[in-house]
Amino acid sequence: MGGDINKTGVARAYALWAPVYDFVFGKVFQPGRDAAIAAASAICPVGGRLLEVGVGTGLSLPDYARHVRVFGVDLSEPMLRKAHERVVQERLDNVDGLAVMDAASMALPDRSFDVVVAQFVITAVPHPEATLDEFARVIKPGGEIILVNHIGAERGLRRLFELAFAPLARKLGWRPEFPFARLANWAAKHGGVRLVERRPLAPLGHFAMIRFARLDAESRAA
Ligand SMILES: C[S@@+](CC[C@H](N)C(=O)[O-])C[C@H]1O[C@@H](n2cnc3c(N)ncnc32)[C@H](O)[C@@H]1O
Repeated sequence: MGGDINKTGVARAYALWAPVYDFVFGKVFQPGRDAAIAAASAICPVGGRLLEVGVGTGLSLPDYARHVRVFGVDLSEPMLRKAHERVVQERLDNVDGLAVMDAASMALPDRSFDVVVAQFVITAVPHPEATLDEFARVIKPGGEIILVNHIGAERGLRRLFELAFAPLARKLGWRPEFPFARLANWAAKHGGVRLVERRPLAPLGHFAMIRFARLDAESRAA
């Protein structure tokens, strides 16, 4: 599982996307970013720490509440360079840092963030389950993982289209047919997280916001 997209392919794809990314994906992904940012800003305590994984060109960075301390990581150095320019231009002094890292093995301490946000990322990483394990590792008990993504249709014409489009989409850097069951199975197997919300987003429910809370040891035992 996951060998279909690899790190070299991701780096190559996003080096090509970086110069035009904001133009192509800025507006179309904005409602999803808005939903994730609102949820994250609401639950993050004052001075709390938020990790944005796959931060890309940093389109979401100016929109987080300024009481939130943000750290961003991405595999693609050209995407991250754009994010860095944005931080400087917009004087985002609540952004503590940006670093090139693989989401599946991050050089970050256990239980060090209040919220992990990944927008349009989990279907684009080489190893989604290992990446989710990393999210759960770095989050504090009681904290949340907030994902925004296109989730594959379970049946019908849209599923057929997504399956047909999948080989080309992988070359562009994502999996259009990625099923929700893959997230649910990960959560069940992990055992240390609980699904808090799965909300289809306007327009048309094409994208969804999915939130998992990190359980503490007591709630795991209960
Ligand atoms: C579709 S873009 C989303 C960017 C941004 N979150 C947004 O809302 O526009 C996916 C991002 O995930 C990053 N990515 C893919 N695989 C990754 C990995 N294994 N580790 C870190 N970032 C990764 C890509 O480099 C790219 O910047």
